[in-house]
Amino acid sequence: MRTDTATLIDHKARGGHLDPDTIDELVAGYVDGRVTDPQMAAFAMAVRWHGLDTGELAALCGAMSASGDSFRWNIDAPVVDKHSTGGVGDKVSIVLAPLLAAAGCAVPMLSGRGLGHTGGTLDKLEAIPGYRSALDADELARILADVGTFIAGAGASIAPADAKLYALRDHTGTVASPHLIAASIMSKKLAGGADTLVIDVRWGRGAFCRTLDDATLLAELMGGLAAAADVAYDAALSAHHSPLGRAIGNACEIREALDVLDGAGPTDTRTHTLALAERICGLAGVDADLGALLDDGSARDRFDAMVAAHSGNLAGLARPRHRVEVAAPRDGHATLDALVLGRAAWHTGAGRDVPRAAVDPAAGIVLHVDDGDTVTAGDILCTVEGSDDARVNDVAAHLGDQLVADAPDTTTDAQTTWWSAT
Ligand code: URA
Repeated sequence: MRTDTATLIDHKARGGHLDPDTIDELVAGYVDGRVTDPQMAAFAMAVRWHGLDTGELAALCGAMSASGDSFRWNIDAPVVDKHSTGGVGDKVSIVLAPLLAAAGCAVPMLSGRGLGHTGGTLDKLEAIPGYRSALDADELARILADVGTFIAGAGASIAPADAKLYALRDHTGTVASPHLIAASIMSKKLAGGADTLVIDVRWGRGAFCRTLDDATLLAELMGGLAAAADVAYDAALSAHHSPLGRAIGNACEIREALDVLDGAGPTDTRTHTLALAERICGLAGVDADLGALLDDGSARDRFDAMVAAHSGNLAGLARPRHRVEVAAPRDGHATLDALVLGRAAWHTGAGRDVPRAAVDPAAGIVLHVDDGDTVTAGDILCTVEGSDDARVNDVAAHLGDQLVADAPDTTTDAQTTWWSAT
């Protein structure tokens, strides 16, 4: 006999174990509407409190992955992929996917939207007018064969359970659960059909994992799921106390990604992207000079081709109607806290107030100083931009004070270590 939904949630909320059939039924019911958003939110909170054991995690990830199409690519190239657990200013995927395509890999990338204070690759790409991120399996296969990469979203046909639960978690305080993050990411990645996968597990002030220990646990959880699916897997454990690069938001992050694709851009964005790409190539046995592929325009060509294949018009990239510069209110040191800046960017309109709402493609913050820089009262720290004057003014009015400290910040993001199963 089937367990009714309220009873199984109550069982999990008391710390009980759920069997795979029950989890399958829950996920299927959520996708077809028999299980409601409030019920799924209660389940997610029970998981946030009690976690999942290995069998439950495998069942949740498997059910979410199997809720839509799963790909097996018949393609004569190493099929590789990368995902981040969420960061502020993290535009790495936008550079890395075309870079790896230029190196001869096939990169079927299923990405996410903004979650909590972190930005989402799809929201950023959709700042390019016309960019379609919800494509059917045939179109994705065609783009992968023609261009070597696509960046699309979970949705009606791919991991729909993740698309629904992801949007719900964003508004129910259930994002920062390692088990829900692992199931969410791996359900998309396994459906995407890559043979080689690197996950950028971020930890620190701007990440969902606050400590290196939390990040290690998350890397291990996903490593177990990858091993069971026979996918070659490594995880970067990347410190993330300050934003990556200088742009935080939607269109402004696309602009920074274009700079990196043109061989320029902030050093940390380029360096981190290359480190992840080199690890993927190493795992997949691909020998390529990745820096040269950025510098000689090859990666940029792939990006332009990918955007065109997704029907995007790069020339029309969203531009902010309203811009306000934020000056240092006093002498001191720039302190670029990723959580403060991620929340501020979200408030400009770069993130959503209500589930599934539209974001402002032009919203974001562009930094003009680096973490720890000495600043003098009146120096311009950043520009806040977007389409909503009131939001932009409000963020700009409060940000200056939060970005200057008396002493330099001693935390550093220059520490990526690696988690590997072998
Ligand atoms: N990225 C995802 O796809 N899911 C999460 O839960 C967090 C980051």
